[in-house]
Amino acid sequence: RQVPGRSIASMNPARAAPSPVSAPVSAPAALRRRTLLAGAALGLAGAGCRERPGAPFTIRWSHVVAEDTPKGLAAERFRALVQERSGGRIAVAVHPEARLYSDHDEMQALQLGAVEMLAPSLSKFGRTGFPEFELFDLPCLFPDVASVRRITQGRLGQRLLQGLQRQRMVGLGFMDNGFKHMSANRPLLELADFAGQRLRIQASQVLAMQMRALGAQPVALAFSETRQALAAGVVDGTENPLSNFWTQGMHEVQTDLTLTQHGYLGYAVVVGQRFWVSLTTADRTLVRQALHEAMDFGNRIADTQNDKALAALRGFAGTRIHVPTAAQKAGLRAAVQGVHEGLARRIGAEWLDSLRDQLAQLAG
Ligand code: LMR
Repeated sequence: RQVPGRSIASMNPARAAPSPVSAPVSAPAALRRRTLLAGAALGLAGAGCRERPGAPFTIRWSHVVAEDTPKGLAAERFRALVQERSGGRIAVAVHPEARLYSDHDEMQALQLGAVEMLAPSLSKFGRTGFPEFELFDLPCLFPDVASVRRITQGRLGQRLLQGLQRQRMVGLGFMDNGFKHMSANRPLLELADFAGQRLRIQASQVLAMQMRALGAQPVALAFSETRQALAAGVVDGTENPLSNFWTQGMHEVQTDLTLTQHGYLGYAVVVGQRFWVSLTTADRTLVRQALHEAMDFGNRIADTQNDKALAALRGFAGTRIHVPTAAQKAGLRAAVQGVHEGLARRIGAEWLDSLRDQLAQLAG
């Protein structure tokens, strides 16, 4: 890990010491990952057999963000609920901050049974064979999180989750983080500001198209590598919801944050199919119920966590915060319109038409 997580609740930004830039993923961590994956591939890890009723077991949930984020706190709530309702028989081991697996290998770990549960951002399903999930990456499309939620809870969302069976995953639901904002070592208010900037993105073709449409150069990097890449000047800037920006300490290595609110970031919670079918019906019900309550909790606190991060950032002298004018927002929106049709060409117009119809119904 590059940096320890920052607690939104406890940290006083005025006293925040810049954290040292440490080495990339350490050799032992990388080795541990490879060993776990190799073991899983040999069938040494994971749930191959049907669970004996009443037998104890552990659900390993790996994720890449800090504990004090909407996803981190929802995972912790899930752990506590499952522990309590199973009387301690079902343990949940949450592995945050990419300590176990990073964006590079977590999907593979799930499919091999080296972990049971993940909540990757929707942007990370495209390269696993589900480009239709990149609908949620489309810039300047969703008016607010409530509209996204109506889509994810509706027919389109259910269809996306069902499709995950193609890759031996079971989709259990969606969870929000919020809207992303741009950061760099300069304000990013107008197209001219983006020219030539190397901006970190998640590995999503829509996000790459978005950055190119703005005149920037997209650089796909794992989340766990991002802060260090910013500190080292490998990339100039990035886009994040505020709770991720703050808890990774990115404000310590970026001088300017522009509140563009240009795109959504949310998650799908997935489990491995072999693990899921190995559970008794009663345990599946317990896990599903606890997860839905934990996701509701995560959704309820997502806004507050982002608001708290903004308040903390306002108190941090090292990062200037810019708010684009309506005209500047309109300029950025106009520049990215072609990205929508680019995705429609890739995944078929039907997905985008259905999304637009549902958004229009919500607006009407
Ligand atoms: C990112 O890579 O920027 C995000 O997906 C991280 C996360 O899980 O919120």
